[in-house]
Amino acid sequence: MKVTIVGAGAVGASCAEYIAIKDFAAEVVLLDIKEGVAEGKAMDLMQTASLNSFDTKIVGTTSDYSRTAGSDVAVITSGIPRKPGMTREELIGINAGIVREVASNLLKHSPGVTLIVVSNPMDTMTYLVHKTTGLPKNRIIGMGGALDSARFKYRLAEALGAPISDVDGMVIGGHSDTGMVPLTRHATRNSVKVSEFLSADRLTQVAEDTKVGGATLTKLLGTSAWYAPGAAVSALVQAIACDQKKLFPCSAFLDGEYGLKDICIGVPVLLGKDGIEKIVSIELDAAEKAKMKESAEGVRKVNDLLQL
Ligand code: 2OP
Repeated sequence: MKVTIVGAGAVGASCAEYIAIKDFAAEVVLLDIKEGVAEGKAMDLMQTASLNSFDTKIVGTTSDYSRTAGSDVAVITSGIPRKPGMTREELIGINAGIVREVASNLLKHSPGVTLIVVSNPMDTMTYLVHKTTGLPKNRIIGMGGALDSARFKYRLAEALGAPISDVDGMVIGGHSDTGMVPLTRHATRNSVKVSEFLSADRLTQVAEDTKVGGATLTKLLGTSAWYAPGAAVSALVQAIACDQKKLFPCSAFLDGEYGLKDICIGVPVLLGKDGIEKIVSIELDAAEKAKMKESAEGVRKVNDLLQL
């Protein structure tokens, strides 16, 4: 299994580190346009191999896509991250051009690749890749829901005073401060609905804290977060590499599922060797359906800014 990560910034490098530590990939190629950065981070990570007991080979390259040839999975993290006070949507102008070019370069050398899109605004960047590459829809995956769900579980565990391993929950919808739909009604603490433990007001607070999870970190860090995004991407890569058939919410191209068409947005999917092997339909109540519809309208507004 060969994995390419385009963008050796904090998210790309964390992702490479988590993939290496899990030791399931033969090779990880880190590519960046900044001279020497990918090579430097790859070498630094390789010098942790004996300490962290992994055999994954990590190589870095400055813009040489021939080094990515034959990749099974490629992750696109390139583009500018958001600064405090910025929304993910404000990045579209710069990031659309970058993501389009990166996807096309990757496909020239790895026509059989499965792409994971991380660059923001993520749902729109995933849609752009869908519209411009001609790749089958199962091989284009947007990373948002896995991260948002991890942040949801963190907030749920905090509210419950429970260990995170006791908690399960999922966030669907768009990967934006207003578009996320944390499914509080479905969340559980070791199979017991969290509403047995938390008041409706506390659950609303958990959902609101989850939705601004990225913005909260951007304010604290002065730039976008990287540990949880890197870990979330590595979990998706592992599900594909190890054919796990694992369920994650991911941004997927919809053709009627959830009453939506011609859009990429977060829904539960099964990930395995063929990428998105199934879009899982779950029963939503009227309020959840309305939130999903509103979320889709928000994503479409950003999609309309694309020059396709
Ligand atoms: C975040 O939410 C990077 O969009 C990503 O932190």
